[in-house]
Amino acid sequence: MIPVFEPEIGEDDIAEVVAALKRGEISGSFGETIPAFESEFASYVGCAHGVAVTSGTTALHLAIAALDLPQGSEVLISASTNVATALACYHNGCVPVPVDSENVTWNLDLDLLESLITPKTKAIIPVHLFGHPVAMDKLMDIAQRHGLMVIEDCAESHGATWHGQMTGSFGHMSCFSFYANKIITTGEGGMVTTNDAALAEKLKLLRNLAFGKPRFLHQIAGYQFRMTGMQAALGRAQFRKIERFVGQKRAMAQTYNRYLAGIAGLKTPAELTGARNVYWMYAVTIDSAFGMGRDVLTQYLFTHGVETRTFFCPMNMQPFLRRQAGFREVACPVAERLWETGFYLPSACNLTESAIASIAELIRRAPSLA
Ligand SMILES: Cc1ncc(COP(=O)(O)O)c(C=O)c1O
Repeated sequence: MIPVFEPEIGEDDIAEVVAALKRGEISGSFGETIPAFESEFASYVGCAHGVAVTSGTTALHLAIAALDLPQGSEVLISASTNVATALACYHNGCVPVPVDSENVTWNLDLDLLESLITPKTKAIIPVHLFGHPVAMDKLMDIAQRHGLMVIEDCAESHGATWHGQMTGSFGHMSCFSFYANKIITTGEGGMVTTNDAALAEKLKLLRNLAFGKPRFLHQIAGYQFRMTGMQAALGRAQFRKIERFVGQKRAMAQTYNRYLAGIAGLKTPAELTGARNVYWMYAVTIDSAFGMGRDVLTQYLFTHGVETRTFFCPMNMQPFLRRQAGFREVACPVAERLWETGFYLPSACNLTESAIASIAELIRRAPSLA
């Protein structure tokens, strides 16, 4: 089976983790490795501060918590996203408002944003879906005009740029995931990056149980979201390879584009002028011209040894959110269609050209054979 993704863990990664273990850097409270990873990664992103945490989900949770929003605040989020984006709102007493996708990049449709803003709207969380950057200049302009905070969900976009500027450096805060299938991994892990020193202090306080003065007197309710030293050591070793991984992802996408060209009804991922798409996953959609449905095709691929995953089920369709007090029924026809017709193909950095060629050949021939 060709898996959708396989992390590359080399001897260099293993050596760094072992060295951290030998130095006793096993928790999230001691050593130099965590701050070193934070500052290296944050400066790559173009931010002054990085706060390492246990996952992309807890990064998002912490970022929203740091904003201290009133209960019932509305947060505009991409409809097509991992549920983590919505959960971070939900568990902070905020109401996520899904913003439908646009048809080209599948990111949130910026033309819809302003029509969804109400007096309760306090923030926007754009997701750089599958590694394609959101047009952040336009989004920041809208946010500024309406006085909204912006948290970029960069879980899938390490290294992606919009007009030469890194995703993660536009918003007030940005959240990265280092889960095993992400562009660099710490196994589980995440980071919030920001240029705002006061927010960075708040994030660090909240991450670490909000210890007070004296230490065990807590003025505010914190969390225990600390990354361990062992994970940060893996992160630092992976980080040294980040540009190679991004280059491999982009080469993988170009190879897929070549082999999948000209298949009726199959849409390959976009890369807008000004965008550096990092193709976290190589995602495609099919329409009726393809000649068979998405589920039949992905089952066909599975029986021929090719693993795939569907696009996300959009947030307007999530039962737990539809039961949330104040949740708004917002139509998201594009995100719903993507959920029905989209899937992503094996996207490991080291996927060979011959594997891509054989996957493409299966897809090309599936409608006539299955
Ligand atoms: C867009 C998006 N946001 C958030 C997350 C959550 O990250 P984690 O799995 O590290 O909690 C993911 C993870 O896959 C994601 O794709």
